[in-house]
Amino acid sequence: MSRMDAFRNRVGGFAFGGDYNPEQWDPAVWREDVRLMREAGVNVVSLGVFAWASLEPEPGTYEFGWMDEIMDLLHENGISVNLATPTAAPPVWLTQLHPEVFPVMADGERFGFGNRLHYDPSSPIYREYAAAITTKLAERYSFHPALAMWHISNEYGPTAYNEAASVNFRRWLRRRYGDLETLNEAWTTRFWSQRYTDWDQIEVPHIPRTWMNPSRRLDFKRFTSDALLECYIAERDIVRSFRDDIPVLTNFMRFYKHADYWKWAPEEDAVALDIYPNPADADSHVSAAFQFDLFRSLKGGQPWLLMEQAASAVSQWQLNIVKEPGRMRLGSLQALSRASDSVMFFQWRASRGGQERFHSAMLPHSGPDSRTFREIVDLGRELKLLAPAAGTTSRAEIAVLFDWDGWWGLEETAGIPRSDFGYADTVMRHYTPLWEGHHPVDVVSSASSLEGYKVLVVPNAYLIDDEGVRRITEFARDGGTVIMSFFSGVVDECNRVRPDGYPGAFRELIGAKIDEYWPARPHEVFAVEFADGRRATSTWWRDDLHLETGKALATYADGLLAGRAAVVDNRFGAGRVVYFATLLEEAAFGAELLAAVEAAGVRSPFPGVPAHVECSVRGDEADEYVFLLNHSGERAESVPFPGEGTDLLTGERVSGAVELAPLGAAVIRRARA
Ligand code: GLA
Repeated sequence: MSRMDAFRNRVGGFAFGGDYNPEQWDPAVWREDVRLMREAGVNVVSLGVFAWASLEPEPGTYEFGWMDEIMDLLHENGISVNLATPTAAPPVWLTQLHPEVFPVMADGERFGFGNRLHYDPSSPIYREYAAAITTKLAERYSFHPALAMWHISNEYGPTAYNEAASVNFRRWLRRRYGDLETLNEAWTTRFWSQRYTDWDQIEVPHIPRTWMNPSRRLDFKRFTSDALLECYIAERDIVRSFRDDIPVLTNFMRFYKHADYWKWAPEEDAVALDIYPNPADADSHVSAAFQFDLFRSLKGGQPWLLMEQAASAVSQWQLNIVKEPGRMRLGSLQALSRASDSVMFFQWRASRGGQERFHSAMLPHSGPDSRTFREIVDLGRELKLLAPAAGTTSRAEIAVLFDWDGWWGLEETAGIPRSDFGYADTVMRHYTPLWEGHHPVDVVSSASSLEGYKVLVVPNAYLIDDEGVRRITEFARDGGTVIMSFFSGVVDECNRVRPDGYPGAFRELIGAKIDEYWPARPHEVFAVEFADGRRATSTWWRDDLHLETGKALATYADGLLAGRAAVVDNRFGAGRVVYFATLLEEAAFGAELLAAVEAAGVRSPFPGVPAHVECSVRGDEADEYVFLLNHSGERAESVPFPGEGTDLLTGERVSGAVELAPLGAAVIRRARA
């Protein structure tokens, strides 16, 4: 049995709970906490996330008494512990003894104390102290009956420009390139006289007076992600060395640019997401859906964990809007619908002081007699009804490419035809029409297997390695449909322009050569005409594109590129490529993308359902669980539901159609056809 199967058995379905910080409270409060946790159906808490100073108040002096007591208390009450190593917030004594642990920022300024994540991941001293506290915790609690999971550190993220980072960067570069000649080639150091003759000449890329070498900058992004991963692995291996049947993971963030989660995921038993969709943003649930699909995909379709969300408002923005009644439940069900095996929160009890004193909690300042707590109790009850769905997952026929290398290349290295590409935005532009069409979507990296997919969507993949190019090309040749947007396949993995004209990697694939990239002037709008006479507009970007084997699906109707292709259709091997050479207006782009999906033989499983009713399915060999989620404040009447089944939330039989209250939901179990 896998470690995660054992965890699921232990919690009896979905994990429900949150970060618990008893060190902020008097022990008398702990009793009340545990009583209310039971009332809410909490079965797991994440303990000790930032508790380093409470566990080791002075170097080498440990105070475990309080944690012993709380671990016992939780266990006696049937609540499992996701025990955190507290290494995301080093105590003040550590930074006082060793100020070099503080990260230096790109501008040379050193962090001060009073925040969190104030460590240089490459610092041997930080790593030594982190290993020591992790060892102590593992020695003491590995066999405590409450222990169900290890939560390593928290939201890995610091980027540091310290001397120790330079030392570690050089070590990383030696491993990557072997010799300096290869590095000089990879970084094109003949440009601007940057040639290195000794490894010690290489430093982390501080803010330069002019531009930074784009290949060095790119490698620094890769290195930073790997340096953080080294910290995670070191702590993971310590806890594993005591006991290896307990799942180990850390918590990731939404659209987080600075750690390559594809590389991290294999090192964890499950991936876990912290997500705070902004209730003030009407589309935040669509970007949440993408994140959920990404997290399901990071470990090849295995269920993932929603590790943190807010019960209501957060406190880190300028304006922190509450989640109106029903919104928290709907967002929780949405995570489950896309194969989360948990609904967890930051945090259990709202803090009275500190930076996040106004961050909502399962148990808010207003106590148990509050709207939020009542909604939490209701959710805990509903999760039990949904327990049969835990451990199930889904698989799509459409894949969207999402790659950290591509993200860094596009946004972090400067000197490209326009510097305002937003990778997350472009990915969401491609994902949104699929979401609105209720299409199941998986997310892939350029190193993922594409077997079993019918459609691959490639949003602005500027930087992609040869292996990624080969996979995409083979996919089309073998009969797949590739939907690709402009400025793809331009540079190799070292950020060097691919030879023989744009788009170097994909010229044959798209059946066209691009003479120049023509970013548009602000406010420039182009008329585009489709072969069937439909007209649309485009902005922002045009390729000066010359068809080879490709045919024009649409051409520019005005401007200097009038008559040239704006959308290309290329038959390639047994497959097809649809290439967008300009930024089409949203509606036309969405329609074209969905037409290509349909032509590839992929049908939406939920035809006729309005876009704001999100539909998704998870299941196993025997059963499917169909989630219908009404994101609108209006009642959704007569939502077509193909087939019949039982709504697990109400126990009622459903066939043909369902009605959903404003922000309402149905979770229908039906036998797999
Ligand atoms: C993150 C952290 C939590 C908390 C929340 C809310 O996800 O992991 O400790 O700060 O954000 O802001």
